Amino acid sequence: MKKIGLTLFALATLAACNNDPKPTDAKTTDAPAADAGPASNPDYEAGLKLVASSDCFTCHKVDDVITGPSYRDVANKYASQAPDIIPKLAEKIIKGGSGVWGSAPMLAHPSISQADAETMVKYILTLKK
Ligand code: HEC
Repeated sequence: MKKIGLTLFALATLAACNNDPKPTDAKTTDAPAADAGPASNPDYEAGLKLVASSDCFTCHKVDDVITGPSYRDVANKYASQAPDIIPKLAEKIIKGGSGVWGSAPMLAHPSISQADAETMVKYILTLKK
């Protein structure tokens, strides 16, 4: 049975109304303040950087299933098994494999170190909802 994940995103809060009339209609220079949750985890930034600089996002998205499972689904499946599961998932990233989520294979990533792969896994696990 397919689980439909409810993704309640904290959308960026709209800029508060400013009662002071400003001469220039200065646009607020707000960075998107969404998702302060996982982003505040130190594993998030380091792991995301590694994932983004590799080929991961060609097969994975955070919330949508493409070739590979969504990272949200991966996190929801495994976060409760941390930390034991982290080296195992890292090994799977390095060696590749299939059969857990379907028949599509994940390619091997032999050039990724175990430590970097574990950082990637930690990032993914922060996405648990
Ligand atoms: C060629 C497409 C592809 C690429 C590139 C890819 N993946 Fe995957 N990934 C998959 C597929 C397909 C699965 C599901 C494998 C299975 O069912 O066992 C998967 C599964 C996973 C899992 C869960 C493994 C499990 O046993 O449940 C993790 C974690 C993961 N990928 C992380 C990554 C990371 C990090 C990268 C980048 C270094 C990456 N993937 C790159 C296709 C890909």
